[in-house]
Order: sequence, then C-alpha cells, then structure tokens
Amino acid sequence: QNNYKVTVCGAAGGIGQPLSLLLKLNPLVTELNCYDIAPFTPGVACDLSHIETASKVKGYFFDRFAGQESLKDALNSADVVVIPAGVPRKPGMTRDDLFGSNASVVKTIFECASVACPDAIFCIITNPVNSCVPIACEVLKKANKLNPRRVFGVSTLDIVRANTFVGEMCGVNPKEVNVPVIGGHSGITIVPLFSRATPKVTIPADKLDALTKRVQEAGTEVVKAKAGHGSATLSMAYSGARFANNVMRALMGEPDVIECAYVMADVTDVDYFASPVKLGKCGIEQNCGVGDINEYETKLLCDALEQLKRDIQKGVDFANQD
Ligand code: APR
Repeated sequence: QNNYKVTVCGAAGGIGQPLSLLLKLNPLVTELNCYDIAPFTPGVACDLSHIETASKVKGYFFDRFAGQESLKDALNSADVVVIPAGVPRKPGMTRDDLFGSNASVVKTIFECASVACPDAIFCIITNPVNSCVPIACEVLKKANKLNPRRVFGVSTLDIVRANTFVGEMCGVNPKEVNVPVIGGHSGITIVPLFSRATPKVTIPADKLDALTKRVQEAGTEVVKAKAGHGSATLSMAYSGARFANNVMRALMGEPDVIECAYVMADVTDVDYFASPVKLGKCGIEQNCGVGDINEYETKLLCDALEQLKRDIQKGVDFANQD
C-alpha cells in the first residue's frame, strides 16, 4: 500500500496549517482530513484543496450541537493521525505549564480515536509531550484499544535542531548530520547524544555544555524571539511532516527506517522514553534502546529521568482521575 489517509487534529493552528500543507504535498497521502475547533477550518481545507496534488482534502470543525461527531468523522478509519491541537507557550512558560489546558484536549481526541480509528498510528505534537503521550496511552488502554507500537510523541524537532546546530558548528551540511536525541521533549529531559552523531563529529570540550543547553532550550529561544506570539510552528510542522513521512515509508514496507521518538518502552526505569526506534508495517518494529553513551551523557540521562518520571506520572494520574 502506498496511499494513506491522514488526519490532522489542530489543523487550523500555527503548526497545523503548515503541517497540513506539507502533508498535502506528500504523494503518499491520498486523503487529508483537517480537524480543528476553529470554525474556519473548512476554509483551510478548501484553500489546500486547490493545490495541484492528487490527494483529497476535507475540513471538519467542532460543532457544539453535534458533540464530538465531527471529530469522529474526521478520524474515521485514518491510517495516521497527527496531533498539534492545543495551546502554545507564551514567554516565561515551560511546556509543563500547558498541561492544564492541553491534557483534556488530548484526552478528548483519544476517547474519539479509540472508537473511530483505533488501529491508526498516532503522532502527538501537543505539549507537554512527556505527559500527553501517557494520557493518550491510558485513554486507549481504558478502551481496550492500546497498541503501544502505534503511539508516538514527536520529538523529531529536537533531532532536527541538534543536526542544525552541529552542522553550523562543524561546518557540515545539517542534512547529512544525524544526532540521536533521547529522553523526553522538554528542557533537561532532552538528552542529545553528540558522541553517537553520524558522521562522527568532534565537539570541542569547552563548547559541549553550551551546545547541549542550546538544544534543550531551543524551543524557549523561539518563544522569546516571537515575543508573545507563540512557540515554534514552522520547524515543528517540518518535523511533524518528516516523522509522518517516515511512518508511512515504514508502513509501505521500506526497510531500515529508524527515527528517535518518545514512546512507551522499558529501555530505562521509566515507562515512556525517547530513543531510536525501528519503524515497520505495524509501527514500532524494534526499540533500539539507549545504546553506548559516554559519562557526560550518562549524567544528563540521570538528571532527565527524575523529571521525566514526574511528567509521566502527571499524565497517568490525569487520565485516571475519574
Ligand atoms: N481540538 C482540536 N483543535 C484544538 C483544540 C481541540 N480540543 N483545542 C485547540 N485546538 C486548536 C486551536 O483552535 C488552534 O487552531 O489547536 C490549534 C493550535 O494552534 P496554535 O494556537 O497556533 O498553537 P501551535 O503553535 O500550533 O501549537 C500547538 O503544539 O508544539 C505544541 O506546544 C505546542 O501544545 C502546542 C501545540
């Protein structure tokens, strides 16, 4: 199969619109459903539908008289669901500060997805990703529909940023650099593994701390630069589209598609963790785990796990509170 039905939840937003555009340009996507609570979402879909690629685009928005019916229609039998729905950060906020608004958004989407497209591959962009992925899995588990091989937190932007910054520092094309990034997707939980970059790069010892910090705080760099107008949208849309494309290539049977993603896993003593995963026809084919890391990275990982545990528990507790 090389034709996929993809639904974007949050399609009218700062990430959702460019993400939907990139998916409209992807020849593997034959049906693109754009859902958002914003009433102008059918307009976004109409706009996209005029682009001369073969895929069909449909727009859906939340109609309070119909409950979640339009969300279910948008999700119905989707192969891949990409979720950037929710509120973005303002200056001074951490990703965790979004929990209060976004946890219930994710819960509702997954309650509907467990009915409308339980076998889809889910790619969660909504922050805090560290907690939203556990919420999604708990909701699916309650509905008896959890397949942990198919639920992903998209941490691709951390890799994209690490590749870019290393490329700049070492004078190589960032497209040819691949830095695995493990842990979570927020602040100190983001653990870039420069020692495992391909091709091999040498980061001067006196620059390692600053480079690590820059990757960990790159989202905040954007939030500050946007001065109250949200967080990363274009680079996140690129990263979401890149991840969805890799998922579809793997679904198609392409071998050796390996990408770091934040998933349910038992590779460390936390239940959710980002590490390189081999993608296949059923989602995760194999979790490649942490692999060899140096002393510096081991220390970063230790610091990350404490925070990650708290973030995960918060998501699990929220999903099970009633
Ligand atoms: N269902 C569907 N869409 C929703 C819902 C919901 N329950 N709640 C909000 N939305 C939509 C909004 O209407 C808006 O169009 O999600 C979109 C979010 O867009 P922006 O406000 O522009 O935010 P964006 O920058 O795209 O970030 C969205 O992704 O990376 C994360 O931290 C970021 O959590 C944030 C999310």
